[in-house]
Amino acid sequence: MQDEKTKINQLLTKYQFALKMIEAEVEVLLQEFTLKHGYNPVEHSKVRLKSKKSIMEKLERKGKEYTAINMLQYVDDIVGVRIVCSFLTDVYDIVSMISKSSNLIIKEKKDYIANPKKTGYMSYHLVVLVPVYLQDGVEYMNCEIQIRTMAMDFWASLDHKLSYKFKEIIPSEVEEKLYEYSLMIQQLDQKMLELNDIVDKYKKENQKENPV
Ligand code: GTP
Ligand code: MG
Repeated sequence: MQDEKTKINQLLTKYQFALKMIEAEVEVLLQEFTLKHGYNPVEHSKVRLKSKKSIMEKLERKGKEYTAINMLQYVDDIVGVRIVCSFLTDVYDIVSMISKSSNLIIKEKKDYIANPKKTGYMSYHLVVLVPVYLQDGVEYMNCEIQIRTMAMDFWASLDHKLSYKFKEIIPSEVEEKLYEYSLMIQQLDQKMLELNDIVDKYKKENQKENPV
């Protein structure tokens, strides 16, 4: 019988493979998108493997022991991808592009843009299954993809920084303000989208006047 530590390390190695697979897949999809649409919607993106410490903390929060089985069952963001884009519409275009990928299986979709979390958090989350090719065959590993605009990302990282300062209970004054500012972020994204439409209109008029 393998001990639990070995099982966990073996599992983490598989997640490392999955991270490489999803990184390559997302890069190809985004380059294809850029070719097809003539512009790159992504401001920045990153992939990360959750640390052992964070995995342990998450399992503890859920009242589960730190075991390989529980990691598979209860932690679906050991491999994480974050794609930060310019406009609200880009988020949905990227979701649809990922959904069409024949290399990924969509396990879960959560639209926290249409339905923000009660904190005010906004983002589109996908949990996808990524194939990893091992000597014994193919295995599908969970991977969480978060897609959001720059404005949503700005809010989420400051929320994370500020809320983190409180161990458990966040003062309601802080919570209320964070929520209030998330509404401002929502409005800003809407305004930027409208501005983008105006810019597009000018571009089209220019093309009509100066066809090449
Ligand atoms: P988990 O069991 O932790 O996965 O919770 P869940 O399934 O209810 O939530 P989900 O997986 O949809 O989202 C979890 C991730 O979203 C977190 O790891 C954060 O990255 C992000 N997130 C969710 N809520 C907030 C929030 O209020 N503030 C910030 N900054 N990030 C959040
Ligand atoms: Mg989750």
